[in-house]
This record gives sequence, structure tokens and C-alpha cells, in this order.
Amino acid sequence: MRVFTGFAGVMLLVYAGAAAPAAAVPAAKPDMERGKQIASTVCVACHGADGNSTVPANPMLAGQQGGYIAAQLAAFKAGTRPSPIMQGMAAGLSPDDIRSVAAWFESQKPAARFAHDKALVDRGQQIWRAGVKASGVPACAGCHGATGAGNPVQYPRLAGQYPDLSLGWLKAFASGARPHPVMGPIASGLTEADMKAVAEYASGLR
Ligand code: HEC
Ligand code: HEC
Repeated sequence: MRVFTGFAGVMLLVYAGAAAPAAAVPAAKPDMERGKQIASTVCVACHGADGNSTVPANPMLAGQQGGYIAAQLAAFKAGTRPSPIMQGMAAGLSPDDIRSVAAWFESQKPAARFAHDKALVDRGQQIWRAGVKASGVPACAGCHGATGAGNPVQYPRLAGQYPDLSLGWLKAFASGARPHPVMGPIASGLTEADMKAVAEYASGLR
């Protein structure tokens, strides 16, 4: 019995250690009404109340992974993901607010978008499914999913995102303006033409 308790203790410790990067995301239940209220009073101006932004400069949030939304809001608040606009927006949100608004946007249905540039889309699909061997870039699908829906907790949805935003984020990962240990090296292995192609392809995924 003793041995078992001790073992369980060790397992718990290991688990807590593995979960440490998500520590900023609180674990209590989200309040959907509260989330909806924040979305429709604060976020609505730019992202739409249901997260279907109609302005290409503002990201689509409908259907985005809730864990990802919460982590990004915490990063904006802390300034570790630089954005003058979003730092101000996140500053007033409590951990409860963040959890609730993240769950609200995750539960919303993303509007369908269609990639239009055929040549770009073909190249983009190649990168999405197989990566770029010559520069060691892995397949995007490996983390963001075959359909671009993302994966809980930290892999964002890219399907249906405005292509100029995805392109801008890839450039920012490559330059270090948006520092990230995984996406930095991946984006650095893409030419600007390839970034454009894969951003266009992802925007048409559903
Ligand atoms: C004044 C316009 C504006 C308002 C209001 C606003 N946002 Fe944003 N938001 C932006 C812009 C612009 C970006 C892109 C920032 C960047 O990547 O540099 C962004 C990015 C984000 C991101 C990251 C998306 C991604 O895919 O990386 C999240 C999450 C987010 N906003 C959530 C919210 C929430 C929640 C609210 C309401 C509490 C809100 N925003 C209010 C303009 C706004
Ligand atoms: C090993 C896993 C992994 C692979 C492979 C991967 N990504 Fe990512 N990607 C991530 C993670 C993790 C993030 C979240 C970064 C953060 O937290 O700021 C991310 C974020 C992004 C973002 C920002 C999205 C947003 O809403 O802010 C874009 C764009 C992106 N990835 C594009 C790509 C493309 C294109 C490829 C293929 C060339 C790719 N990724 C391959 C893990 C991966």
C-alpha cells in the first residue's frame, strides 16, 4: 500500500511538471453567459460577437481552440506576445473572464471561407501535408491537424483564418518579433512565397 501511494505521488508530480506551460490557463468551469457578455460588449468591435471577424486585419476566433485563446490572452496581458491593441484588451480580464470568453469563442461556428489562388493553393497543400524537406520544415498537419482545426490545448486552428494574418504571423515567428520556440524555427525554414502559399491554403480549409 505504502509503495503504491508513493508511486502515485511521483506520477502526480511528473504530470504537474508536464502540464506546467499551461499553468496560466485556470482549470475551473467557464461561465458561458459571462463569456458571451464580454464578447458582445468588448471583443465585438473587432472580432464579432460570435468570433467571425469581418475585417481581415482582425483574427477569426470562432471555433478557435479555447486553450489557445486563453493562453494568448494571458501572453498579451503579460506582454510576452507583443500587441499594443491586445495588451490593452487583455489587461482588464481576470482569469475567470479569460476562461469564459475563450470557451465562448471556441463554441461558436466558424464561417466558411474559400481559398482562391489555385497555384498558391497547390503549393500550400504540399507544404501542409509534407512540409519542406530541404529546409527541415515538418508538415503543418502534424500539429494543426489535417483539416486545420488545431488540437487542444496549444495548437491553434488555422482553417478559415484570413491569409494575410497567417502570413504576418509566420513572418513574425521567423523574425522573432513574435517569439516562439517551436514556430520560430519552422517559419524560418519557409521562403516568403511558401509562407504565402500555405497561408492561402489554410484559409480555405474547413
Ligand atoms: C480594437 C480591436 C480589437 C478588440 C476590441 C479586441 N481585439 Fe483581439 N485582436 C485584435 C487584433 C488586431 C489582433 C491581432 C494581433 C496580432 O497578432 O498582432 C487580435 C488578436 C487576438 C487573439 C489572438 C488570435 C490568434 O489567432 O493568434 C485573441 C485570442 C484575441 N485577439 C482575443 C480577443 C478578445 C477575447 C477580445 C475581447 C475581450 C478582443 N480580442 C478584443 C483586435 C482586437
Ligand atoms: C510541432 C508542432 C507544429 C508544427 C509542425 C507547426 N506548428 Fe504552427 N504552431 C504551433 C504552436 C504550438 C503554435 C502556437 C504558438 C503560440 O502559442 O504563440 C503555432 C502557431 C501557428 C500560427 C499562429 C496562429 C495564430 O492563430 O496565432 C501559424 C500561422 C502557424 N502556426 C502556421 C504553421 C504552418 C504554416 C506550419 C507548417 C509549415 C506549422 N505551423 C507547423 C505548432 C506547430
